[in-house]
Amino acid sequence: MDKLVIQGRHPLRGTLPVSGSKNTALPLMAGALLAEGKSTLDNIPNLRDVTTFSHVLRIAGASVNFNSAEHRMEIDASGVDYPEASYDLVKKMRASFYMLGALIGRCGRARVSLPGGCAWGPRPVDLHLKGMEALGAKIELDQGYVVATAPGGRLDGGVFEMQPSSVGTTINLMLAAVTARGSSRLENAAREPDVVVFGRMLQQMGARIEGLGSDTLEIEGVDTLNPVEFYNAPDRIELGTFMIAAAMAGEPGEPVHISNADPDSLGDAFIDALAKTGTQFTLGADYVDVIAPEELQPVSIVTGVYPGFPTDLQAQWTVLLTQANGNARVVDTIYYDRFKHIPELRRMAANAIVIGNEVVVEGQNRLQGATVMSTDLRASVSLVLAGMVAEGETHVLRVYHLDRGYENLDGKLAAAGIQIRREEYDEFADSVLEGHMTEA
Ligand code: UD1
Repeated sequence: MDKLVIQGRHPLRGTLPVSGSKNTALPLMAGALLAEGKSTLDNIPNLRDVTTFSHVLRIAGASVNFNSAEHRMEIDASGVDYPEASYDLVKKMRASFYMLGALIGRCGRARVSLPGGCAWGPRPVDLHLKGMEALGAKIELDQGYVVATAPGGRLDGGVFEMQPSSVGTTINLMLAAVTARGSSRLENAAREPDVVVFGRMLQQMGARIEGLGSDTLEIEGVDTLNPVEFYNAPDRIELGTFMIAAAMAGEPGEPVHISNADPDSLGDAFIDALAKTGTQFTLGADYVDVIAPEELQPVSIVTGVYPGFPTDLQAQWTVLLTQANGNARVVDTIYYDRFKHIPELRRMAANAIVIGNEVVVEGQNRLQGATVMSTDLRASVSLVLAGMVAEGETHVLRVYHLDRGYENLDGKLAAAGIQIRREEYDEFADSVLEGHMTEA
């Protein structure tokens, strides 16, 4: 297994390039299944989740060629004839559940494993299933699998209101609704840029969708969709992560340049919060320059749906708050139990406590290097950020979590002044597990 070893307190300087978005790449890949023929997707990041989802598509009968150096993926969906996604793959990555909408939309039926638990606590899929029923699907559960059937081979379409608003449900229902016989309306739909980018690709394929970027989507089903050439959006969470990194670990007065970015995709809440910390930044058309302040001000945040503060940036924000000149809080209203990084950060001498769905963080904290364990994607990047400002050496174990969603993070940071290297280690060596009780 790999770990990252970081020598702390070396300033971040130079340029950090943002890769293509993971959370849009996966729906785009699912969307390509809806058209017979070959679609080409550009700016697809070279990530473990993308590789996992390529396997899912291949099992359904698609041919997938990924040129990871050029970030170009060709998906020929002509041969899709096996409408199934197995437990083996869905348990590795919840987004494989997008196969439910994609296969119903393409084949009129789907047999997709229910995802299991998640490191963030409960992550139900009840809305996905109720939504499919509202669009006319017959849903049955069979030994851990959802079996969905469109009577007569095609959904009728229908009206569904999501409560709460859900990115995954919106995408799954769009996949199912665009080829329905009739029209559909999705209410309280997600407005996240990820949904907008995905909707644009479907429109380019011939789908009739109105209201992208609003909370009501009107979809008129069409008989067939065409293959497409589409350029994926930059990753907004990677951009936000880099902006936080620059604010914390940049040299005061020296700009860190973040390239290939889409600053509009971050949402106002994050931009406002970062400005209040005293960090200066310039939002360009496709770049952001960030100048770290002499002293960070503490700024409390509450996560929310777009344009609220993204839950995918709250763990990173917590680390920034350890460096601010006062105390502040982080409240997650989307996921109530997404704080697995806190006990690890406490091993690095952070003073942060979890109370319900809230973390109170003490500022002016001199973090110390330690051996810490990644538990999920965003938690693991928060440990890397902590290692960058900690005294001494930090070992971040189980970086496969990080590799699911950050392309070449260690390479990018190393090119920008951070002392970071990747090493193999033996997970079961006594010295590695010391201090980490995996199960009691
Ligand atoms: C997506 C992102 C994830 C991000 C999250 C919130 C991908 C691959 N993942 O996850 O990185 O953190 O959006 O921005 O794009 N809910 C239900 N029932 C459901 C579905 C969701 O109650 O059937 C709830 C969830 O528990 C949560 C809220 O809805 O409280 C929002 O979750 P959702 O937007 O669906 O997250 P994902 O699409 O899974």
